[in-house]
Amino acid sequence: MLSFEDEITPAPKPAYNPAMAAKPMAGSTVSASDSDTKSSRVRVEDKRIINGTADVNQLVPFKYKWAWDKYLAGCANHWMPQEVNMNRDIATWKDPNGLTDDERLIVKRNLGFFVTADSLAANNIVLGTYRHITAPECRQYLLRQAFEEAIHTHAYQYIVESLGLDEGEIFNAYHEVSSIRAKDEFLMPFIDILTNPEFKTGTPETDQQLLRSLIVFACIMEGIFFYVGFVQILALGRQNKMTGAAEQYQYILRDESMHCNFGIDLINTIKMENPQLWTPEFRKEITGLIQQGVELEYRYAEDTMPRGVLGLNASQFKEYLRFIANRRCQQIGLDEIYAGANNPFPWMAEMIDLKKEKNFFETRVTEYQTGGALNWE
Ligand SMILES: [Fe+2]
Ligand SMILES: [Fe+2]
Repeated sequence: MLSFEDEITPAPKPAYNPAMAAKPMAGSTVSASDSDTKSSRVRVEDKRIINGTADVNQLVPFKYKWAWDKYLAGCANHWMPQEVNMNRDIATWKDPNGLTDDERLIVKRNLGFFVTADSLAANNIVLGTYRHITAPECRQYLLRQAFEEAIHTHAYQYIVESLGLDEGEIFNAYHEVSSIRAKDEFLMPFIDILTNPEFKTGTPETDQQLLRSLIVFACIMEGIFFYVGFVQILALGRQNKMTGAAEQYQYILRDESMHCNFGIDLINTIKMENPQLWTPEFRKEITGLIQQGVELEYRYAEDTMPRGVLGLNASQFKEYLRFIANRRCQQIGLDEIYAGANNPFPWMAEMIDLKKEKNFFETRVTEYQTGGALNWE
């Protein structure tokens, strides 16, 4: 069974981790000479993604510009669920002929997985990953990412509420639907390691544990486990059904694609700074985990679409998942697992690269920049 005790049990006092403590502030020692004071200032060369000793409260000088750039890009893509009009979806859902039973099953299974998955993702960041990362630029992105996960949970809840679905059924799907539970049970040990208050990095073993969990989270959860669901709802939207939900999923897909890319940059930088962690045994283990992820996601595809629907069938998903898994392997420097796998859904690439020029964002982005401006007069 799933365990979420970390979220409800008061955590014991965390073990002291020097990497998490701030260095003394420059100028805080009265007797220090000017040169001593300056020598305690943050130097770029002292920053590390893990086990760093530079003051985590000082965002600059930047070392990991890619993380800051992704933070800015995430902010520029800001959106809120309630801005998407759900009236057509509500009418379609209420109309007995609006959707087939298979299409309704897809919508319910999708929400059943995602409505708790993004809470898991947020908790993994806030209660786990964040405190083990010692680069403030990366922490800044993680803060943005955590809020985006909250927006995603909000979006799924908003769809459930708009369609008048049975909340108990949808929110408990990860306990009650075996193909969903299997995915979450696969993830839980990797989340539990990072959220355990006793866990700290600093040995080859614990550093590998952190790296393993980061890979599972970015490459398997955000990079594989979300994709059958995304394809299904976006395929509905392409057929002009549930277009409000599809629009929300499109924004979520773009956010998730950025999360996955950030995670990959994070993983590759940790590998570069700590090459001793990337052993042949470790690489083999990661490859095995990715294969397991593909199998679990394929099982979920079969469960959500027992018959062909929307011009899609489960075997296309097998090919798609293999294609994505190869891509994830390549992104973190592993050999491809599935030779010759192709992308049966080339239109998904367009969805990921959602253009900023789309009207929705043109209007909303402007509002965000001016709507909350203070008036000093
Ligand atoms: Fe998310
Ligand atoms: Fe995410």
